[in-house]
Parts: sequence; structure tokens; C-alpha cells
Amino acid sequence: MKLLMSILFIGLLGSSAAGAAPLVVEALFDTKSRMPGVLIPFRVSGDLITGGARILEVLVEAKTAGVTCGGMVDLYFPDIIQVKCSDTTDIIIAVRVVNGAEFNEGLFGPYVLKYPAGGKPVKPTPVEDPNILAGKQLFNAFCVSCHNPPTLKRGRTAAQINGAITGPSKIPAMVNVKSESDGASVLTADEALKLEAYLKSM
Ligand code: HEC
Repeated sequence: MKLLMSILFIGLLGSSAAGAAPLVVEALFDTKSRMPGVLIPFRVSGDLITGGARILEVLVEAKTAGVTCGGMVDLYFPDIIQVKCSDTTDIIIAVRVVNGAEFNEGLFGPYVLKYPAGGKPVKPTPVEDPNILAGKQLFNAFCVSCHNPPTLKRGRTAAQINGAITGPSKIPAMVNVKSESDGASVLTADEALKLEAYLKSM
């Protein structure tokens, strides 16, 4: 198993040096919530995932001798991976994705896994994503008056939001709400993406 991992890791290093299209792995819990013995979620994103690639393999290498780690794709969210280690260690996460016949790989980390000060369990705290926070503010300012609770629009994309505003079936009231408040007739592309990030996060 160790040998297999080493071979794969060498292979991975080679392929990322060749400049494969980007994969991004972000921790969804903040540092103090990344503890041994529990499942810790990470999100895999980037152009490859947007382009339809799915995660084929997750390998987690523990930097501390004697510590074992595992990684798997979440049962419900295809872009989330779950990582668990037996003890305190630094980890490197290797992710392999496939899109049709094309494979791509990336190595991420190191991430630190340790018990919180005093050894007390902590409530997992999500990493605060500035885009999600900005999207929430936009939603509260421009959308919540008609769409409450926001979860009714869970998972809507920027394209769907723009479609609702500017498409053939546009809702004039909605455009008015936005233009009255800040003089713009439609959302900017950036605002639509922030709203999308917020609606995805729920
Ligand atoms: C003045 C009321 C109003 C406001 C403000 C408003 N909407 Fe809507 N919106 C509607 C109505 C009515 C519909 C059609 C019925 C439905 O789908 O809920 C709709 C439809 C939509 C749809 C398409 C249908 C769907 O569920 O995919 C999306 C997406 C959407 N709105 C997102 C937003 C976002 C994001 C904002 C804030 C920028 C917003 N709306 C602000 C009234 C409003």
C-alpha cells in the first residue's frame, strides 16, 4: 500500500508539473476544527470540475509515521471529499479526476490535523467564504422580500438568476427593486456569481 502510494504520488507530481488544467481543494472547516478521528470535509472545484470531471480517487498521505489516514468522496455531494486520520499529523491530499477518457490529478496541502488546545472537542466551524457572505448580503438586500425563506432558491445558478431578471419571462418588479435601490437595471456578473455561491452553500 505504501509503495503504491509512493508510485502514485510521484506520478501525480509529474503530471501537475506538466501544467494540467487547475483543480482546487479547499478545506471547509477552519484549522481548529480539523481534528483526528473525525471526518473533515474539503471541496474540490476548478475548471475541470465545472467542465464535468468527477472525482475518481482520493488518497491521503500522513506525514507522521504510524498515523493512518483515509479519504473518500462524499456520499451525497460529488464535489466534496471527506478525510479522516487516526492521530495528529500533517497531510497531503491527492485527488484524481476523470472526464470521459481524460484523467487529471493534483496534490494539495500540507494541512495540519491536531487536537484543539486542552484536548476538548470543538464544534466544527465552517471556513467563512467571502463570496458566500457577500451573496447573503445581496440576497437580503434585493431578493428576500419576495423569496423567503432563501432556501426556496437553493442551488440556483448565476445563469438562472440572470435569466429570471433579463430573460423573456423577466419579472419587471425584480428589476425595479434592484434599480430603485442602486440605479443598476440588472445584477452585475460578479453579483450574480456571489448570489450563486450563497444559494449553493445552503
Ligand atoms: C418583487 C419580487 C421579486 C424580487 C425582489 C426577486 N424576485 Fe425572483 N422571482 C420573483 C417571482 C414572482 C418569480 C417567479 C416565481 C418563482 O419562481 O418564485 C421569480 C423567479 C426567480 C427565479 C427563477 C425561478 C427559479 O426558482 O429558478 C430565480 C432564480 C429568482 N427569481 C432569483 C431571484 C434573485 C436572486 C433575486 C434577488 C436579486 C430575486 N429573484 C428577486 C419575484 C421576485
